[in-house]
Amino acid sequence: MNKILMTYNSTEGLEKLLSNPDFKVEIHAKPTPEQFKELIADYDGLLIRSEVKVTADIIAAAKKLKFIGRAGTGVDNVDIPAATQKGIVVANVPGGNTISAAEHTIGLMLSMARNIPMACSSLKTKEWKREKFMGTELQGKTLGLIGFGRIGKEVAHRMIAFGMNVIAYDPFTSTEFAKASGVELKSLDEVYAASDYISIHSPLNDSTRNLINADTLKKMKKGVRIVNCARGGIIDEKALADAINSGHVKAAAIDVFAKEPPVDWTVIESANTVVTPHLAASTEEAQVKIAQELSEVVVEYFSKGIIRNAVNVPTLDWETYKQLEPYIALAEKIGTLQGQLISGGLTEIALEYAGSISSVNTNPLTVAYLKGLLSTILDVKVNFVNAPALAKERGIKIKETKNQQAEDFTALISAGIKTEKEQLVISGTLFGHKNARIVRLNTLTVDIVPSGSMLYLTNIDRPGIIGQVATLLGKNNVNIAGMQVGRNEQGGEAVTIINIDTAATQDIVHQISNFSGVTKVKYVAL
Ligand code: NAD
Ligand code: MLT
Repeated sequence: MNKILMTYNSTEGLEKLLSNPDFKVEIHAKPTPEQFKELIADYDGLLIRSEVKVTADIIAAAKKLKFIGRAGTGVDNVDIPAATQKGIVVANVPGGNTISAAEHTIGLMLSMARNIPMACSSLKTKEWKREKFMGTELQGKTLGLIGFGRIGKEVAHRMIAFGMNVIAYDPFTSTEFAKASGVELKSLDEVYAASDYISIHSPLNDSTRNLINADTLKKMKKGVRIVNCARGGIIDEKALADAINSGHVKAAAIDVFAKEPPVDWTVIESANTVVTPHLAASTEEAQVKIAQELSEVVVEYFSKGIIRNAVNVPTLDWETYKQLEPYIALAEKIGTLQGQLISGGLTEIALEYAGSISSVNTNPLTVAYLKGLLSTILDVKVNFVNAPALAKERGIKIKETKNQQAEDFTALISAGIKTEKEQLVISGTLFGHKNARIVRLNTLTVDIVPSGSMLYLTNIDRPGIIGQVATLLGKNNVNIAGMQVGRNEQGGEAVTIINIDTAATQDIVHQISNFSGVTKVKYVAL
C-alpha cells in the first residue's frame, strides 16, 4: 500500500488515484512547517500545489518518500537538489494550465490598458468618471515576453491576433521556434528598450530572481506596462512600486508575489496596479486537467516504475522509452558488472555509444550505467534520480562519445573505467534486440550472458587451472552453467568467466585465489 499525503483540499479529477486499492490518500491541507515535518515521515508520495515549501528540512524528515508530485507547473517551492540527493522523483504537471494562465495574462493586460478594475470599483461607488479612466489600445504596440515556453507562446499567438508586435527573450529557445510563431527573439536589453508591454513567463530560478529590479527598470521605455503571471520573486516589488510612483512605469498587472499571501502590500495598494491573488491557473478546466494527469503520473510511477514529467530525472516519450528499454537494462548491467570487477577509487569514466544508439538521446543510458555501477560501490541507495548527483559529488569525471560505427554490431555500449589502481573496459550489445551480451573485456573478445552468479578469473593461460576450479566448485555442490575463456595470445593472460547456478562463498573465492597461476578472482552477482 502506497501512502500519499496531499497538502491541498481539492480532489476533483484525482478519481483514478483515489479509487485505486493500492493507494491510501490522506489530506492534511496547508500544514505548518512543524506539522509538515512530522507528517511527512509516514508517506511514500506527496502531492502539493504552491501552499507549502518542501525544504531540505522537510526532505530530511521524509523517511519513505519516493515521489513528489506538483499539481501545476512551478517547482520553485521544492528543494530539488535535496530531493535528488535522496533519490526522490520530483514531477510536475505542466501544460494543463497553460491556456488558463495565458488567458489570465491577457485579461490582466486588457484590464490594465483600459483601467477596467479601477473603473469598475469607481462606478460601484456611484461615480461616473469617464475622463479619469481613459485607456490605450493594444494594437500596434510592442509586447516583450521574458520566457517563451508554453505560456509565452500562447500569449504571443493571441496578442498577434490583437495586432501587437511580439518580441521575446528566452536564452533556451531557438530563433526558428520563435519565428514559427511570428515572434522575433531579442536580447534582454533589446526587449527592455523596445517594449510598451513586458510580460514575464519564465520560471523563478537563480537567473531570474529579482530580474526586474531598479537597474533593469531604468532600461525600459518610459510609460512601460508590466505583467507578471509567472512567479513572485522575479520582480523586486519595492523597485517596481518606486518606478510606478515616479511615473517611469505606467502600470503593472500582477498575479504572483514574493510572499503569498503578501507581507508587503505597497505595490498592491498602488492605484496603478491590477492585482489578482495567484489566480492564473484557477479555472475549472485547468484544475481538472492537472488533477487527471497527476493521477496518472502517480499511479504509473508507483505501479509500473514509469517516470513521467520528472524535473530531476531524464525522461523519455513512451515510444523512445520502449525502443531504448533493453539498452537501458544493458547499460545498467555493464555498470553493475564493472563495479564488482574493479577496485580502487574511481576517477574517470568514458562511455561510448556506437551504431544505432549513437543517434538517440543517450542520457538515460548513462544514468542507468551510473546506477548499476554506484549501487555496487556505495552504501547509500542509488536510483535513476540520484545516480548522476552522487557521481558528481564524488568528483567522478564522465566523458561521453558517440560513434556511428559499431564494428560488427548493430549497437555497442562501451564503458571504460579508470581507478587509482587499474583500468577496465567492458563492451556490451544486444543479440536479437533484447538478449544482452558482454562482448569485450579490455581487449579480449568474449560472449557472456550478464545475469545471475559468475566467477571472474584472470589467470596465466596454461593447462590445469580451469580443471582445478571446476573440481573445487563440484566438491562444493556449485553447478557450472556456462564458461567463457578469452585470451590474447597462447600462454599469456587469460580471462575466464564461469556462470554458476548458485552463489560462491567467500571461502571458495579465497581457495581459487590461492591456485597457482590465478592472478585475480572475483565473485559477481548480477
Ligand atoms: P515553460 O517551462 O514552458 O516556459 C518557461 C520558459 O522560460 C522556457 O522556454 C525557458 O527556456 C524560459 N527561461 C528559463 N530561464 C529563463 C531566463 N533566465 N530568462 C528568460 N527565459 C527563461 O513554463 P510555462 O508553463 O510557460 O510557465 C511559465 C511560468 O509561469 C512558470 O514560472 C510557471 O511556474 C508560471 N505559471 C504560473 C501560473 C499562475 O497561476 N500564475 C500558472 C502556470 C504557470
Ligand atoms: C503553477 O505553477 O502551475 C501555477 O502557479 C498554479 C499553482 O501554483 O497552483
